[in-house]
Amino acid sequence: MITYKIASIPGDGVGNEVVREGLRVLDHIAKVDGRFQFEVTHFPWGCEYYLEQGKMMDEDGMERLAEHDAIILGAVGAPGVPDHISLWDLLLRIRKGFDQYINLRPVKLLKGAPCPLKDVKNEDIDMIFVRENSEGEYAGSGSWLYKNTDREVVIQDGVFSRHGCERVIRYAYELARSQGKTLTSISKANALNYSMVFWDQIFKEVGKDYPDVKTYSYLVDAASMFMVKDPKRFQVVVTSNLFGDILTDLGAAITGGMGLAAGANLNPEKKFPSMFEPIHGSAPDIAGKEISNPLATIWTVGQMLTHLGYPEWEDKIVAAIEDVLVAGDGLTPDLGGTAHTADAADAVIARLK
Ligand code: NAI
Ligand code: MG
Repeated sequence: MITYKIASIPGDGVGNEVVREGLRVLDHIAKVDGRFQFEVTHFPWGCEYYLEQGKMMDEDGMERLAEHDAIILGAVGAPGVPDHISLWDLLLRIRKGFDQYINLRPVKLLKGAPCPLKDVKNEDIDMIFVRENSEGEYAGSGSWLYKNTDREVVIQDGVFSRHGCERVIRYAYELARSQGKTLTSISKANALNYSMVFWDQIFKEVGKDYPDVKTYSYLVDAASMFMVKDPKRFQVVVTSNLFGDILTDLGAAITGGMGLAAGANLNPEKKFPSMFEPIHGSAPDIAGKEISNPLATIWTVGQMLTHLGYPEWEDKIVAAIEDVLVAGDGLTPDLGGTAHTADAADAVIARLK
């Protein structure tokens, strides 16, 4: 029996509700499967911790997390703590510190999921976003000069290294090849005349090693329009940190909402633990009411199982979520139901054999 060490960081707000349910599903799968078990360590880090201790995580936090095989995270952010502090001192610290340079976000219209677009079939929306997750527009480089004077100047740099661009683009080509899918690069080289010209150039260069992969390149503004007007154009998509962040929220909106959108932060070399999370935030407007949707977190548990070497369990989880959506029972209010967070997880668990 293999034991995997999982670090759990529920964080703030609904993060606590959805991670609790995600771990229940994980526990159930371990029992059903029998080949592995999970040893879960809980870390109380987040905004509440910050308000008590003056820090988002402990000083030795990264060393302690490094001892784990994977991390499950809920969401961070709470009124009273500036969002840039909660994001940079916990979430981005982990993503960057553990070189989780791939952010893998499925944008797939599951059977039974509500879709605001007209005349769209389930198979028309079946994308997987490979978002650059370590640099780009979120590199944290810049300066704030002459602060609080009338000469104030703020500069936020986009950082695009050859190493950083090549590895994410190569990962996307490999993914497209292994799944027999097309690959679309989304950039903005007409306006961003250094970073995105460079990105496009590397997309072409790396592509020489993948003549079998059919590719497309779109500008981000056109891509956002096509995601709504003609989503079946997209299969595997590779894009920068900022564009990927925004487009995957759009992706969530056309596939049933934030309660269904999952995301994996991967260090593909497995030198460091990878981190699995729903893409939504702490949802302070509904936190504590036990009506948050745990399905995105349950899906990301599936991504974790794929990463650990059991992709069949992600398939089973997605099929179980689809079953729940089609049956229409056990749905939380964001999906039009009246179920509580735990009921929705129970509905999935009942279908996981
Ligand atoms: P949000 O994702 O928390 O909420 C947006 C809307 O979606 C709200 O109406 C919320 O009720 C709904 N929603 C989100 N998750 C849901 C779920 N599981 N079930 C049902 N409904 C759900 O985004 P918002 O309001 O912009 O941010 C709130 C806080 O979360 C902020 O402090 C923000 O910085 C933080 N945040 C953290 C993220 C993370 O930890 N990865 C990501 C996005 C925001
Ligand atoms: Mg986001």
